[in-house]
Amino acid sequence: MDVPAFLHPFTPPSRTEFIRIVGGDGAVVWDDRGNRYIDGLASLWYVNVGHGRQEMIDAIADQAARLAAYHTFDPFTNEPADRLAERIVGIAPMTDTRVFFANSGSEAVDTAMKLARLVHRLEGHPERQVIISREHGYHGTNYGGTSAQGIAPNREGWGPLVGEVVNVPANNLEEVARVFSDRAGEVAAVLTEPVQGAGGVFPPPEGYLEGLRRLCDRHDALLIMDEVITGFGRLGRWFASEYYGVEPDLVTFAKAVTSGYVPLSGVIVGARSRAALEAEPEFVFRHGYTYSGHPLGCAAGLANLDIHESEGLLERATHVGRRLSDGLQSLYADGLVSDVRGVGAVWAVGMPEGTDAFAVRQRMIERGVIVRPLGDSLAICPPLVIGDQQVDTIVDVLAEAVSR
Ligand SMILES: Cc1ncc(COP(=O)(O)O)c(C=O)c1O
Repeated sequence: MDVPAFLHPFTPPSRTEFIRIVGGDGAVVWDDRGNRYIDGLASLWYVNVGHGRQEMIDAIADQAARLAAYHTFDPFTNEPADRLAERIVGIAPMTDTRVFFANSGSEAVDTAMKLARLVHRLEGHPERQVIISREHGYHGTNYGGTSAQGIAPNREGWGPLVGEVVNVPANNLEEVARVFSDRAGEVAAVLTEPVQGAGGVFPPPEGYLEGLRRLCDRHDALLIMDEVITGFGRLGRWFASEYYGVEPDLVTFAKAVTSGYVPLSGVIVGARSRAALEAEPEFVFRHGYTYSGHPLGCAAGLANLDIHESEGLLERATHVGRRLSDGLQSLYADGLVSDVRGVGAVWAVGMPEGTDAFAVRQRMIERGVIVRPLGDSLAICPPLVIGDQQVDTIVDVLAEAVSR
C-alpha cells in the first residue's frame, strides 16, 4: 500500500493505514467504516464543548457570511477579535491585561518568549535573554517551543536551536534558583506549563509554582504560564494559574479557546509587559501573524465561551475529573495500573511493568475508546460535556485492555 499524500504530524512517514474520522457528536466520534469511539482525549486535549455543536457551527457560519477574513495589522481591527479579547481580559488570571492573538499553541509560545525578551529590552535590560524551561515540558514545535522542549527526542536533530534557553529538571526549585544565581541579571523568564501535559500529565508539586513566582519576583524575571492545555476550563477554573493561585506575567493559550472548531491561540499580556510596550508612543510591536485576530476563530471563541458559561462546563470539569479519577483509582487498587496522576479533568495512568501503552491504546480503539499513549502512560482528557456513563466506559475499557 502506498503512503498517502498527506504527511502526518508526529507519525512515522511510512504509515499507510489511518483511521479516517468523518463525524462527531458530543463526546463521540465515528470513522468512515461506521465504528464509533468515545473521544477520551477531546481530540488533542481541546474539544471542551464536544463535537458537532450547532451553536458553534452557526456562529462560524454567521461570521463567515458577514466577514470571513480580514487582517488586523495597523490600522485594522474586527468586531469578533475586539470582543473576544475583552472577554478573555475579563476572565484572565491577572488584572490589567491585553490579549494578542495567533493561530497555534506553538505560535503563542514563540510570541511569549519573544515578548519576554522584548519587555526587558524596553525596560533597558537587553542582557536579560535567558529563558528557563523544565524537563517534560512541551511547548510546541516551532523553533522557540522546540528549544524550550523538555522532551529530549523532540529537541534533537533540528540544527541550532534558539540560544539561551536553559532546560532544568522538573519540579526542582533549587535547580531553577541555581540558574538564577549562575546567570544573575540575565534571566528574562521562566516558561512552564502549570500542569505538564504532553510530557506525561504531571501536576505541579505543592508550592512549586508559588516558588517559581517568588524566584521570578526576586530576580525581576517574567513568569510565563503555558496554558495551552489547561486554559479555558480544564481544571474547573478558567485558567490553571487561578486554580493554583499564582499570578503569571504572560499566559499562552490555544486549543480550548475555540474548542478547536477554528484554530486560534494567543497570549494574555500582563500589566508589566503592557507598561513596557505602551511606554513609547512611537514604538511598533514588530510581531504578528497574517491570521492574528482572525474573525472566524474569534467568533468561534465567543460562542465557545458562551457555551462554557451557559452549560456550567467549569463545574462540569470538576465533576468529570472526580468521576474519572475515582474510576482510575479503583484500577490502581486492583493492581491494573501502576500510577494515577492528574488534576481537574486531565489524567494519566502508568502502565504496569512490561505492558506497552501503544498496544493498550490499540486494544481500546478496537473496543471503541480513544486515549493517548505518552511513553509508558495513557492520557485521558475527555470533552467536558462527556456523560457519566461514557466516563465509566472509558475506565471499564481501559481495565479490559490492560488486563488482556
Ligand atoms: C502546553 C503546550 N504548549 C504548546 C503546544 C503547541 O500547540 P500547537 O500544537 O497548537 O502548536 C501544546 C500542544 O499540545 C501544548 O500542550
